[in-house]
Amino acid sequence: EITKIRARQIFDSRGIPTVEVDLHTNKGMFRAAVPSGPSTGVYDVVELRDGDKGKYLGKCVSGAIKNINEKISEALIGMDPTLQTQIDQAIVDLDKTENKGELGANAMLAVSIAACKAGAAEKEVSLYKHVADLSGQTNLVLPVPAFTLISGGKHAGSNLAIQEIMIVPIGAATFEEAMQIGTETYHHLKGVIFEKYGPAGCNVGDDGSLAPNISSFSEGLDLVKEAIDRTGYSGKIKMALDVAATNFYIGTKYDLDFKSPNKSGQNFKSAEDMIDMYTQLCRDYPIVSIEEPFDKDDWEHTKLFTNLGICQVVGDVLLMSNIKRIEKAIDESTCNALLLKVNQFGTITEAIEAVKMATDAHWGVVMSHRCGETEDSFIADLAVGMTTGIIKAGAPCRGERIAKYNQLLRIEEELGDKAIFAGKNWRLP
Ligand code: PGA
Ligand code: ZN
Repeated sequence: EITKIRARQIFDSRGIPTVEVDLHTNKGMFRAAVPSGPSTGVYDVVELRDGDKGKYLGKCVSGAIKNINEKISEALIGMDPTLQTQIDQAIVDLDKTENKGELGANAMLAVSIAACKAGAAEKEVSLYKHVADLSGQTNLVLPVPAFTLISGGKHAGSNLAIQEIMIVPIGAATFEEAMQIGTETYHHLKGVIFEKYGPAGCNVGDDGSLAPNISSFSEGLDLVKEAIDRTGYSGKIKMALDVAATNFYIGTKYDLDFKSPNKSGQNFKSAEDMIDMYTQLCRDYPIVSIEEPFDKDDWEHTKLFTNLGICQVVGDVLLMSNIKRIEKAIDESTCNALLLKVNQFGTITEAIEAVKMATDAHWGVVMSHRCGETEDSFIADLAVGMTTGIIKAGAPCRGERIAKYNQLLRIEEELGDKAIFAGKNWRLP
């Protein structure tokens, strides 16, 4: 049973305060930390921060910590940690708001994850296995890693509007081989960029990916293509994009020059221009998935593009991990994949529900890290247990990113002969 819950403030990979919790049972202590990111909309749950500008620029999480140490702790002491649904319900019931504004989704998720880890220990099974039991999954599938190799948007200081250019080694036979392909391509890309832009081009962005000062989508894709060619694995690697277009939608236009101080204005594109551009890019490069190609509220063009059937279209801020928005997008066929940011749900039970909805609709599911991460590798186990088929955890570089990929290597090793790699079935494993 749960005997003690203690939360503290720690820091994420950007140096911003976040919540960590130690949950104790008769089996030991189980620790979990929550991530955070800048892609937020008006529909998401509340990440509770104190807002006192004199302290950590308003980002302090002492209120969320207090909620864990007092209200949540009081409600959960004595509960059986294997009963995830009941635990999550007890947490959610403490908050009378719809957006988790009283307790904070960050407070809730830290405890939900720690309880999940304790539940696995109580059953004496691996964490991914416990998650699979909770999700009703019998298959344990290693996801294909989507490595971000070049970043722009809000994740890097370059002029590039697009947030992430990823490679997806779907032709690998195992997760380990996917890691080899990912890391080798990353190092080759560093070489390609060094030759063209010098050492300053090799600085990295928030998620460990390279961030040369380029401004066109195709320039970035060409660099990655060149790196792929140098590895000799071109037949095994596909590409994916996270445009994060919500960040540069201004009025009725998309401002591809949104970070440059002296905009010329000639880089404004209409939604129709964007559709043409994506269609052309998918012809020129092996792109299999595009995330957030339009503004979060531009459902019309997202749907138009999805219906062209050129590639998978992933909803991120568009869906905002909000059950009602996911339901609507499924009904209207607005997109055909869910970006799963577990911290936007607040509890594991709610995330499991959303994945069920998405897979029932034959959508893809992309397990996702956040820009601000910690060393907690929970989403690796979550991806295997939920059979998401794909995981995006940044570049194969920087501790907080590699922590997730390393955990997947361990899981593959532990499963041995029984390990199944999603590979070419990444969309519907
Ligand atoms: P984040 O989002 O920067 O808010 O963490 C990552 C993403 O857009 O996928
Ligand atoms: Zn995104």
